[in-house]
Amino acid sequence: MKRERWTSSLGFVAAAAGSAVGLVNIWRFPYIVGEHGGAAFIVVYIGFLVLIGFPVLISEVLIGQSAKQGPARALKTLSGSNTWGSVGKGICVTGFIVSSFYSVVAGWMLGYLVLSLTGGLHSAESMSSARLLFESKLGSSSWCLAYHALFMGLAASLLVLGVRRGIEAVNRYCMPILVVLLVALAAWGISLPGGSSALHFLVTPDWSQLTPIAILTALGHAFFTLSLGQGTMITYGSYLKGKENLTRTCAPIVFFDTAISLLAAVAVISLVLAGGEEPAGGPGLVFFTLPAAFAAIPGGQVVAVGFFLLVVLAALTSQISAMEPLINHLVNDRGWKRRKAVLLSAGGGFLLGIPSALSFNLLSGWTIGGKTFFDWISFLTTDVLIPLGGLAAVLFVGWKWGIKGALDQLAERDGTITFSGRTLRTYLNVCVRFAAPLLIVVVLLANLGIV
Ligand code: PHE
Repeated sequence: MKRERWTSSLGFVAAAAGSAVGLVNIWRFPYIVGEHGGAAFIVVYIGFLVLIGFPVLISEVLIGQSAKQGPARALKTLSGSNTWGSVGKGICVTGFIVSSFYSVVAGWMLGYLVLSLTGGLHSAESMSSARLLFESKLGSSSWCLAYHALFMGLAASLLVLGVRRGIEAVNRYCMPILVVLLVALAAWGISLPGGSSALHFLVTPDWSQLTPIAILTALGHAFFTLSLGQGTMITYGSYLKGKENLTRTCAPIVFFDTAISLLAAVAVISLVLAGGEEPAGGPGLVFFTLPAAFAAIPGGQVVAVGFFLLVVLAALTSQISAMEPLINHLVNDRGWKRRKAVLLSAGGGFLLGIPSALSFNLLSGWTIGGKTFFDWISFLTTDVLIPLGGLAAVLFVGWKWGIKGALDQLAERDGTITFSGRTLRTYLNVCVRFAAPLLIVVVLLANLGIV
């Protein structure tokens, strides 16, 4: 079967940006900025994007583009080594596991979108009633399972359409809608009474809040937000036609992802302040601080619909990107029909997601070491497997393949001078070979509680 390709490099940029922009930008970034002191955290975070985010991204896209294969085969093809082949297969599995619990959390957002459309958020007039509402929703196993199933079904119905008509098309439509919604929300937030304090909070660094935990959080976040370490960018890179200048294609992805996070922080923090709430509200910021704020602001119910629609669109384009590495493997390496491959990965992801969805209700008492199934699976992937996948990519490009050989080979084959310019080469050389592996190892050790 002929391998599908993006229609153009813009198709790739839209899809990769859609993958990068997700729950983590809109749900997590505003509250971690809120907790870790605003501008100081943002500065450190941007530093990590430069030191590891961009170099790992470019390494992954380079692997996919050169091998014209997804993670399950690319490392083996490029190195001829079976060990690297197994690493590639492992990376593919990480994406599948991520898709199982990402769908659960995205399902809550979908549920909140429905609540905001049906007027169900009315009851969340204060922080405490909004919290009660959230707890009652999460406490219902049928609510969690139904929205998990619905969200997974939505993702599958888009994936069935293929790389161009499914993934590329949905991103080309969703990304502009998302930007318009977010800009409107941020502009509205700034115009409210809390607006100027929100901006002040986001541009005035409070260096005293920059604890080691804050620095590690920034580092881990830089990684997860770019969808690295789990085969997505290798797979998306493999659908590139092969004449691209990777620096020029990858830089806008990082830029766009960061811009969306910053806009989300402006929107969420100003709305929260306008509603008289605190920005350091933790993971509940979106689920109870914000609904309580919406209730307190005139026209807040309409804004709530726009906000949850925005989050659902962002999560959907990320979800399909977490599922695609496995689908790509089944279709292109094993000759399966796309429909069958999508059915298997969505069905399997749904089943594996069930205990995660039930971790907040029926199975909340099932804990090992104080962690529920959901906690363990998100720890295993985001804190261990994803950093390992990213480490594998930079070690592969920097040491196994050899960065000089990798870049020269690409430049030569493409007939374009990819990574031209001494400064750029030196920067990538240092980051891919030294800075990124070192920092990733630090994160891993910290996540495992070793340092
Ligand atoms: N980048 C996505 C986000 O910010 C998360 C994600 C990670 C999605 C890995 C797919 C794969 O929400």
